[in-house]
Formats: sequence, structure tokens, C-alpha cells
Amino acid sequence: MSQIELVHPSKYEYQYLQVKPLTGRIGAEISGIKLSGQLEDQVVTEINQALLQYKVVFFREQQHLTDLEQEAFAGLLGTPLNHPSVPIKDETKHTLAIDSRGGRASSWHTDITFLPNYPKYTILRNVVAPDVGGDTVWANTTAAYEDLTPELKTLAESLRAIHTNVYDYASRVSSIEEKEGRKLFTTAVEIETEHPLVRVHPETGEKTLVLGHFFKSFSGLNNEDSRLLFTLFQNHIVRWENIVRWRWAVGDVAIWDNRATQHRAIDDYGDALRIATRVTLEGDIPVGVDGRSSQVIKNIVNQDISDLRRDEGRIYKKVS
Ligand SMILES: [Fe+2]
Repeated sequence: MSQIELVHPSKYEYQYLQVKPLTGRIGAEISGIKLSGQLEDQVVTEINQALLQYKVVFFREQQHLTDLEQEAFAGLLGTPLNHPSVPIKDETKHTLAIDSRGGRASSWHTDITFLPNYPKYTILRNVVAPDVGGDTVWANTTAAYEDLTPELKTLAESLRAIHTNVYDYASRVSSIEEKEGRKLFTTAVEIETEHPLVRVHPETGEKTLVLGHFFKSFSGLNNEDSRLLFTLFQNHIVRWENIVRWRWAVGDVAIWDNRATQHRAIDDYGDALRIATRVTLEGDIPVGVDGRSSQVIKNIVNQDISDLRRDEGRIYKKVS
């Protein structure tokens, strides 16, 4: 297999951070830094740089962070983007409580790709970790593109795909809380966006595959052909060579470049509790290799969720 040139040493140097790669293609652990909303500009620049280089970065022992401090830190990296159909955690402006009692994101996806400006970064902080299990895995969608043969690259660059929030959750749904959350997820809004299958990353210029579980179909293809081609390209994305796996401890923070990765949680921890807090930052509208931008196909708001809150897996109305 050919080696992929993902590292540009002259472009990526670090003075303020200690950066340790975790695999040959994706992921790095960053140490020597205490995350906060008061980080120096140079430190923020280097975190950005590490994200572009390694696609997902991990910080240990950030237990000092509160929800609001996590939001303040996130604000240094970009503009928060709230989810259109998942209520925020109470007393926060942009934070989602990712709680195993309310569901488990155990299939491969890129966050919120049914939006045209889907997140550029996601910042996830672990609050409760199972004793064992509940790891998260990320895949490098740029490396996946680079590994395609010239023929498949040409095919990929010609395709556009519709992503939707009204997608078929295949995984088991056990609790009332999960059912309630999933119903709201797929009914509060009905959004469909057509993205190029290959987008040109706005900061690195790298080409990257845009797929994952919000995929509905390829434009111009029937469902059967769409599914076959989805499987073909998705399988390239999740090859072992493109993956890093993280074992969570309380206080760990992961940040990923959501434009160049997919991820999923591993649902192997039974009834143990797993809680994290998540902030997503607005991305720009993807552009394909041919210069065509993503396009909104449908955007229907059925329910205003601004007065709803979600925590411990439950959805409730905020009492003001
Ligand atoms: Fe996710």
C-alpha cells in the first residue's frame, strides 16, 4: 500500500504544544496545556494547526472545565452551531449532553451533515466514563479519498449525495428516553442537503469524502444503486488504516475536524453510564472539485425546540 503524504513538517511546527501522533494517519495526543476560554492566540493557532494535520486531537485531565468554560474555549476556535433537533443542556447556550441513557451514536457518521454548514469542529468532553468499553473511533476521510484508484476518484468526484435528518436508525432502541429523543431528532425538522461526495477542504485544500449515516441517496441514482455505491465508498473510509480509537477517562477532551473525519461510539458497555458534553462549531458550505457548492433541498421546521432542554437522556420543557 502506498504511503500517504499527510504531514507537512515545514507547515506544521509546534512551539506551545507537545503533540504526539497516535497512529500513522490520524489522531494525536496534545499535552502541556490547560484548556480554557483564556488561551493565548498562538496556542489556539497551534491547536487549529494540529486539527488540520491530525484530524482528531485528544487532551487528558481537563476536569477543571465546566460546561460554560468548555463553551468559552470552543468560542476561541469558531462560532458555535446548535443542533436543529436536539435540545441543549439547561444553563448552557450551545452544549449537548451526550448521555448513554438517551441513545448511543454507534454507527459511522460525520456530525449533522444534513445541514449545509455542518460543523467544522466538534469538541467532546468526557464527564462519566464506563469502567471498560464505550471507546470512540474516528476515521480519516481524506486518507480514504487518497487511497482510491484514479478510476474511483473520478467516479467519486462526479457524485453528489443527499443527506437527511430523517434517516432510518437501524440500531436497537430500548428505553423510552431513547425513543423520545430519536422521534424529536427526526420530526422537529425535516432537512435535506445535497453535498458533493468529494469536498475540497477549505483550509487544507485536501479532498475528502462526505458520507456517513445521514446519507440518503446519490442524486440521479435509484435507491439500490445508491446503497451499493454508498457501501463501496463507506468501506474505504472505515478501513483499519484510517482509524484511531480512544479509551475515555473522565476529563478527556477530544476535538475533531468534522470536515475530514467520521466517527462512532462503540456500544459494548452494557448498562454502564457514559456521559459527555459536546459543542459543535459552524462550518462553511462545502464545495466540490468542480466548484459547485452544497445545496439545501428541503428545510422544514415543524417544532421550535428552543424552550426544550435535554439531560440525563430525558427531554423536558424549561421552566423559566
Ligand atoms: Fe457524532
